[in-house]
Amino acid sequence: KRKIIIDTDPGQDDAVAILLALASPELDVLGLTVVAGNVPLHLTEKNALKICELAGREDTKVYAGAVRPLIRHLVTAEHVHGKTGLNGPELPEPRMRSQPQHAADFIIETLMREEPGTVTLCALGPLTNLGLAIAREPRIVPRIKEIVLMGGGFFEGGNVTPTGEFNIYVDPHAADLVLKCGAPIVMMPLDVTHKALTTSKRIAAFRNLGNRCGIATAEMLEFFERFDEEKYGTDGGPLHDPCVIAYLLKPELFKGRFINVAVETSSELTMGMTVADWWGVTDGEKNVTYMREVDHDGFFALLTERFARLP
Ligand code: BDR
Ligand code: CA
Repeated sequence: KRKIIIDTDPGQDDAVAILLALASPELDVLGLTVVAGNVPLHLTEKNALKICELAGREDTKVYAGAVRPLIRHLVTAEHVHGKTGLNGPELPEPRMRSQPQHAADFIIETLMREEPGTVTLCALGPLTNLGLAIAREPRIVPRIKEIVLMGGGFFEGGNVTPTGEFNIYVDPHAADLVLKCGAPIVMMPLDVTHKALTTSKRIAAFRNLGNRCGIATAEMLEFFERFDEEKYGTDGGPLHDPCVIAYLLKPELFKGRFINVAVETSSELTMGMTVADWWGVTDGEKNVTYMREVDHDGFFALLTERFARLP
C-alpha cells in the first residue's frame, strides 16, 4: 500500500479527491491535513470531517493547519464553492473530531517516523502547511517519496488573475518554498485539469451508482460546475484535485515533461504565476514533472469504478 497524506481545503473537487483515495485499496491515507483556501479553515476542517463520515471512514485522522498564508492575506473562493465551501448536497453536521496536533507537526512527525521514501504528500490546496513543515524541519525533505500537487497553469493562464491559479496565487511564498525544496514533484496545473470536465453524462454516471457517495458527488459537481458553465458556456466544469489521486492510481492517464518551474512572488501583476520552462530555454534546474495531457474518459471511468465501492 502506498502511504499518503492529503493536504486539502475542501472544496467539492477536494472532496471527490478524498473520496477517490478512501475508495482505493492501493492507498493508505495516513491523515488529512487541512488548510485555509477555498473557505476559511474552520469550514475546510468541518468539510473534511463531513467527507470522512460520508465515506463511512470515521477512522480517518484529520489535522487542522494554517489559518492563513505565510505572508499574504487569505483569498477565498465562495463564488465557486458556495458559502460553506461544499455547497450542493445536504450533509449532516460531523460527529467526528479533528486530532489536536497541528497539520504541519503531523506532516513532520510522520515523515521522520516512517521509512524514508515511503510517504507521498498530495497537495490539493494552497501550499501553506507543506511550506511550514519544510521551513520548520528541512530534514523531512529527503524523506519525502514524492509531492503530487494540483496547482499552477501556464499555457492555460490563471483562474484568479490572468496568470494566477488559485492554489499558487493564494500562497505564492509557500509554493516557492515547496517547488525549490528538492523533493520529486509532480504538478497537475490548469493545463491538464481544464481537460477533465464534469459533463452531464459523467455526473449522471455518479448519480446512477445509487449509493450515498455517488449521489452526493453528483450534487457537489452540479453545484461546482455551474460556475464554469455560466461563465464560459462549457458542458461541465474542471475536476481539478482528483487528478492528483488518479495519478497515484493510474499514472499512464497523464502525460507531461520533467522541466523547471518557478513561481512569481514579487510582481503584483503576475503574482503566483507558475513559469514553466516547457522548451528548456533556461538553465533552471529541472524540479517538476509538469502535466499537460489527461485521458479524460479513462479518468472518469476510474472515478466511477472506484465510487461504486463506497457506501
Ligand atoms: C484549485 O482551486 C480550488 O478552488 C480547487 O479546489 C482546486 O484545488 C483550482 O484552481
Ligand atoms: Ca482544492
